[in-house]
Amino acid sequence: MNVAYAINRENVYADRFRQDVLNGLKSNPKKLDAKYFYDKTGDAYFQQIMDMPEYYLTDCELDIFKNQTADMAAMIQQSETPFDLIELGAGDARKSTFLLRHLAAQTADFTYMPIDISENILQILANNLKKELPEGSIIPLAGEYFDMLEKAYALSTNRKVVLFLGSNIGNMELDEAEQFCIQLRRKLSKGDIVLMGFDLKKNPHTILKAYNDPPGITAKFNLNILSRINNELGANFNLAKFEHYQTYDPVTGACRSFLISLTNQQVKLDETTFSFAEHEYIQVEVSQKFTTQDIQLLASRAGFQPLAVLNDTKGWFVDVIWQVDNKMEAKWKK
Ligand code: AVI
Repeated sequence: MNVAYAINRENVYADRFRQDVLNGLKSNPKKLDAKYFYDKTGDAYFQQIMDMPEYYLTDCELDIFKNQTADMAAMIQQSETPFDLIELGAGDARKSTFLLRHLAAQTADFTYMPIDISENILQILANNLKKELPEGSIIPLAGEYFDMLEKAYALSTNRKVVLFLGSNIGNMELDEAEQFCIQLRRKLSKGDIVLMGFDLKKNPHTILKAYNDPPGITAKFNLNILSRINNELGANFNLAKFEHYQTYDPVTGACRSFLISLTNQQVKLDETTFSFAEHEYIQVEVSQKFTTQDIQLLASRAGFQPLAVLNDTKGWFVDVIWQVDNKMEAKWKK
């Protein structure tokens, strides 16, 4: 495997983390950004979550990647031209590995560029791929999605195929998701392709249980963000005094996690003391669920032309393939 890099990392990252935490805890209601779940411990918890029977999302998307690989590969290749396969939020790439294997078997000319905020998980991924695809070309990029996408452009002028799997798009509020898709489309060029995973609305009990699992792994995953703030920023959160709380609203499709303060308490970070009332909540994560109409609307608002919708066998999850819409391209460029 040709790993042409030391994993790239932005130095400003630690300052951004501190600033985001300070701003989030000063806001009303208090908030923490779920992208900060993913330190070494958070990565390990998320891998445990993906292995839980309650967390159906991974199995559903794996079903698509295992059984519809040839169709998927044909649609993203389209021509013989070399391409960069960029995966936003790649994690351990357990789904995309099926596609990578298939493309490698076809001797497709591509470079895989996994992007993730966690340098740790990219190291795990690179080690796995070394065994899986010894001949493959891989450039892992650790950092924020759009910063690293720019880096990908600086490294290569090949056409781009962007993977955004696992319903990672659901971790944005709906208006942010739309802005994200618009921004993504603007970064891409005519003919470039996006393959995006969406978790669909379904029985509310099924959804809630995926995030409120009886063994309590999701609770530990959520609480770990407080440990991370203690360890890396020197705060003094007492984890025993906070509790994970999960909701799902079948009307809006928003599945939300909160950390609830179990008592009146104070927490110190730098020179600032934050007061928490008993039962006060910190907003942590949204995992939005979609209808197929929501997804179509998102594509057209962002200027993508839908090429295909790949469903899992249960009908619980979809991977869609969108292309930068030529007509929309002309309109945006005017
Ligand atoms: C990464 N992301 C798509 C997961 C989700 O389903 O929202 C994160 C997660 N949070 C709790 N469980 C899993």
